[in-house]
This record gives sequence, C-alpha cells and structure tokens, in this order.
Amino acid sequence: MEQLLQENRVFHPPADFIKGAAISGMDAYHQLCAEAETDYDGFWARLANEHIFWKKPFTTVLDESTAPFYKWFEDGLTNASYNCLDLNVEKGLGDKKAIIFEADDGTVSNVTYQDLLDRVSKMANALRKMGIQSGDRVIIYMSMSIEGVVAMQACARIGAIHSVVFGGFSAKSLQERIVDVGAVAVITADEQLRGGKALPLKVIVDEAIALGDCEKVKNVIVYQRTGGNIPMTAGRDSWMHEVVANESAVCEPEWVSAEHPLFILYTSGSTGKPKGVQHSTGGYLLWAILTMKWTFDIKHDDVFWCTADIGWVTGHSYITYGPLAVGATEIVFEGVPTFPNAGRFWDMIQKHKATIFYTAPTAIRSLIKASSNDVAVHPKSYDLSSLRLLGSVGEPINPEAWMWYYENVGGSRCPIADTFWQTETGGHMISPLPGATPMVPGSCTLPLPGIMAAIVDEVGHDVPNGHGGILVVKRPWPSMIRTIWNDPDRFVKSYFPEELGGTLYLAGDGAIRNKDNAYFTITGRIDDVLNVSGHRMGTMEIESCLVANPLVAEAAVVGRPDELTGEAICAFVVLKGGRPTGDEAKKLALDLRNWVGKEIGPIAKPKDIRFGDNLPKTRSGKIMRRLLRVIAKGEEVTQDTSTLENPAILDQLKQPL
Ligand code: WT7
Repeated sequence: MEQLLQENRVFHPPADFIKGAAISGMDAYHQLCAEAETDYDGFWARLANEHIFWKKPFTTVLDESTAPFYKWFEDGLTNASYNCLDLNVEKGLGDKKAIIFEADDGTVSNVTYQDLLDRVSKMANALRKMGIQSGDRVIIYMSMSIEGVVAMQACARIGAIHSVVFGGFSAKSLQERIVDVGAVAVITADEQLRGGKALPLKVIVDEAIALGDCEKVKNVIVYQRTGGNIPMTAGRDSWMHEVVANESAVCEPEWVSAEHPLFILYTSGSTGKPKGVQHSTGGYLLWAILTMKWTFDIKHDDVFWCTADIGWVTGHSYITYGPLAVGATEIVFEGVPTFPNAGRFWDMIQKHKATIFYTAPTAIRSLIKASSNDVAVHPKSYDLSSLRLLGSVGEPINPEAWMWYYENVGGSRCPIADTFWQTETGGHMISPLPGATPMVPGSCTLPLPGIMAAIVDEVGHDVPNGHGGILVVKRPWPSMIRTIWNDPDRFVKSYFPEELGGTLYLAGDGAIRNKDNAYFTITGRIDDVLNVSGHRMGTMEIESCLVANPLVAEAAVVGRPDELTGEAICAFVVLKGGRPTGDEAKKLALDLRNWVGKEIGPIAKPKDIRFGDNLPKTRSGKIMRRLLRVIAKGEEVTQDTSTLENPAILDQLKQPL
C-alpha cells in the first residue's frame, strides 16, 4: 500500500495512439465528463440513441421514482442478440470473423457473424420449441466454447434470462443457483477440457438436480464436447446438435423493454448466501458497447482477446456481449495459461495477431514466475508486435507486475487499462483511457465519463484527496445492478446502506485519491469478501461450509496477502473431537480442504488451515478476526489483546501444521 501511494512514475499514451483514439486526449475526456455533469439525462440519452438499435425508441431516460430500483430507457424496446448479430450482418459484416476459437489442444475454428447469427437463431428456435419463454430462467453450466456464447445469445434472443454458473463450481453450488433462480432448463456440456484433462460437467448437473428442489427443470441440453460416456435421462436430456439440426436459421427476436433482465449472475457477498446480481438489457448493453469503444478503443481491424471465463461477469461483458455488439473479431480460448506450457498466451497472441489483450494480475504474476527461469516461455521469445493495447482486471495490479506487463508484453508501447469494476457495475467504472490518460502503475486512475465515483467517510461525507475512505458512486448509471434476484431488501441494504444516507452506491472497496492528480487507488475490500486470483469469495460462505462438516465445531476464515493469488484463504478451525496434532492434523486439514472443494468448488479451498481448542474471542463471545488476520500473515500480535478472553489460544493458532 505504502509503495502504491508513493508511486510516481507516469507513462503517457503514445502520440499516434492518442491521434486515432475514440476519446483522444484529456480535453476530450474532460469534455465528456462536463457533458454528463451539465445534463446527465441528456448525456445518457444521446449515447443510448447513438449506440443501440431501438425497435421502439425510449421516451424516458432515468426513472428515479422507485429509487434505488432505478430504471433506464424503460419504454424503449430492443434485443441484445439483435444488436450483436443481425445488426452487424445488415451492416455488411456477415463474412467478418466474429470468433476465433482455440481449443485446449490448439485446434482453431473460426465463426463469422453470419455463422453465429445462424447458430444462435437455430438454438433460440430450439429453446422456444421446448416451451421456454421470455422471462424464464436458464442455467448455463459450460466451459469456454463457441456453444457457450451461442447458448447465452440464444437466451437473450428469446428474452429468456440466463444465469451462467462457472464450470468450477460444485454440484451443491450449482443446485443452490438452479433453485434460487427457478431455472426451467440447464444448458451444459458432456465434459470440459482444461490443461489436457477431461473434467465432468453433465454428471455434475445430474448430481445437482438429484440434490432436490429442481422440479422446474424440464430440459437439460448437452453440448457434445469430448464424446465422453455420460448418462442421458429420457424425456429430460437432449443433445444440442440434435435439437438444432432441423431448426430454421431465421428467428424473430423477442423485443423486450430496456429494463427486461438480460441475465442473473451469482457472486459472493458478506453473508453466507451468494447474491443473484440482476442486470438489465438496454443499460447493460449500452455500457458494454461504450466501454469497448472508450476503454478498449476498439477498431474494425482489431483482434480482441479477453482471457476471462464466461462464468464471470468479465466474460459476459467482454466476450459474449461487448465485442460482438461492436462487430469486433475476438479470440475465445478454452484452455489454461500454463498448458502445454506457460508460453500459451504469448503463442496465441503471436499466432492470431491479437491487438488488444485483457487479462488478470494473478495470471500475469504466475507467468512472470514461470518465465523467470525458462526463457522459452518468456514473452520476449515470441513476436508480440501485433499488440497495441493491454488491459488488467479483477484485483489491484501491483506496480512490479504492471511494469513487467508494460515492458515485456506491451514492448513499452502499449497503454495498460487497469479497469476497476464489479459484477454489480456491469462494465468498467474507473480506468485509464488509452488515448488520453497518463498512467501510473497500480492506479486505476479516473472514472469513465458519466460515472460519478467518489470517496466518503463512514457517514457518507466526501473526504479530501489524499485521505482514504469508502468508494461510492453518487449517481445511478445505466449498467448498474437492478436488484438481487429474490431479495430486494438485501439489494437495498448491501448497496444503498442507511449509514451512508441511502442514496450512494456502496462498492464494498476502500480507496484513496492522489492529492496531486486525483487518481484513484483501490485499497481492497472493506467487507468480509476475499479476492483470490481475481475470484470473489465470501469468508462467511466458506465458514458455513466448514461448520457443516460433522467434525467441525467452529470455524473462522480470513484472508492474508499472497504473492501469486493476491489473497489466500486461511481457515482457523475448532474440531468437535479436540485439537489434532502431527500427521493426524495434516490428514484432517486435507480432508477439510477437499470438503470445501466438493461443497463449493476448488476455488474456495483454504490454502492454510490451523487447528485450535478455541478461537480468540472477546468476553462477549465475538471472534476477534483482526487478530486472526495478523496470525494468518505470520506476524507477531502487537495489538491490544486486553479484551481477549483466552490469550493462550493465540499461541496454539500460530502453529503451522
Ligand atoms: C471486486 C469485484 C471486475 C470484474 C471481475 C471481478 C476487485 C476488480 C479491480 C482493479 C483493484 C479490482 C474489487 C472489486 N477489483 N478490478 N482493477 N483494481 N481491484 O468482479 O468478482 O465482482 O469482483 O474485484 O475489490 O470490488 P467481481
């Protein structure tokens, strides 16, 4: 943190980049910000009219009458799939490559805009034939594939609301989402291929449905990826290639209100239960398009590559919707960055001549490590001259990783867009504009035009630059979360808390603005949410999972800094049978790790587990997490422990296994 705040290196966008950029130079940026300040509704109405196709134009812009349930462009009719596909074909881009798909084993297949429109239309017709209607929810549990994008777009085409569940989540996590969202169908694949290994998907869907309460699921549609042997349930399960085989490639889109939910995506919050973040069609799509143009400066000839999975919001906005809505060519990658070796990303950039590359700091850090003593997988062993812009997302990027990315991947000529945003925000919020903003390593710099980001204290008052505080957004914006599915009260409490006055959007992150240039630096979550390799995990979620194990009496989970993954999960556990030691402790720790992996998914497995006879508590029984955070870091406890009822416990919990 200290180091981040003292960072004073400044990197200016190259002159030729500025010249051709959508937002060219800081004056252009300030002009857009001023337009938003002067006439907020007019600003957004202008952009929505310019960048979206409306079947029926909207007459109202922002409706605040039921705040904080804001509505944007509500009486306008549109369709996300039409905007992404038909419109591009009509513009003459039918033969343009929409997707360059590279499979885990390196096989490449291309899909044009016309192909994609045909495939989406057939799939949409098949879904309609199954009786799936506008407003119905469809779970998508698939790996990275063209078919995954087709499934999402097909739902959008008929007004069905998709909810993509990341392929690494367990049967139980999947079942919870199927139940909460009330899904009528699940679209999945037989298996997924990652790093040369086939991993199950369909059997996990079967397991999830067998856990119960999934009676609404009438159809399970299976994309045949590996041809692995999987059971099919008659009357419920069907193969994707069979259901689309005889469908027409013409499908009239469902024209929906701009406020019609496009998707629901579950993310972790500070209580045990994941939240179903609900996004709109019009406002969401508008921001996906604008950020493609502003942050990524997308041009006709670009080859855009976002390495995220469609199971996360980044894959929604910057794989399925944004790039297609602007008629770009994009790379979709099935595999992992380290297979067949840690040069995979660089090899693919070279092979496909990628021009814009968007990835996560955790991937960069692991590739720095892998290439530090193996020149064959170092970016300098590849021709990366096609690149003109880099992006970073998901967690703060430390200045060393930023510099390495800038110099070795970007050849010191590509601007880096360090994009701060969230599942809830739909698209980028704070980011340098590559043809305008001078960059400072580790800072996401300034809010995008129209985004009224600010830093306040605990009661919602502005704090001066140079003082840390709570990151908020002062005005609603089109791509913001609309509600938490099934839980509007939680929506209001989580994002518009009374303590801050009830009108500020609370991001859940701490931040500070630089005294000199007002640049934002994100200082990390201020709630019980961890960020492990760019994946959001609730500590409470992992705690409830641990205590659900019959051996466990009590558990507390905290994060600690980790060089590679940003944060690592540390669990402090009290067993019903007393504190284990030696090999028994090691074995139990392994069992508990696997338990969490099975209950939630491998990404939630604690890295460290410590056993104690008890947890450090105050006399009133409250767990003192700040002490656990110190112990997890391996530091000495120097803080006040006078309120601690059982100080001896600290020594026990300090013992590594
Ligand atoms: C949280 C949101 C953004 C899509 C993927 C993650 C952290 C995200 C940055 C960044 C510092 C960042 C924040 C945020 N975060 N991007 N550029 N710099 N922190 O979406 O799973 O909803 O997580 O990720 O803590 O609140 P998410």
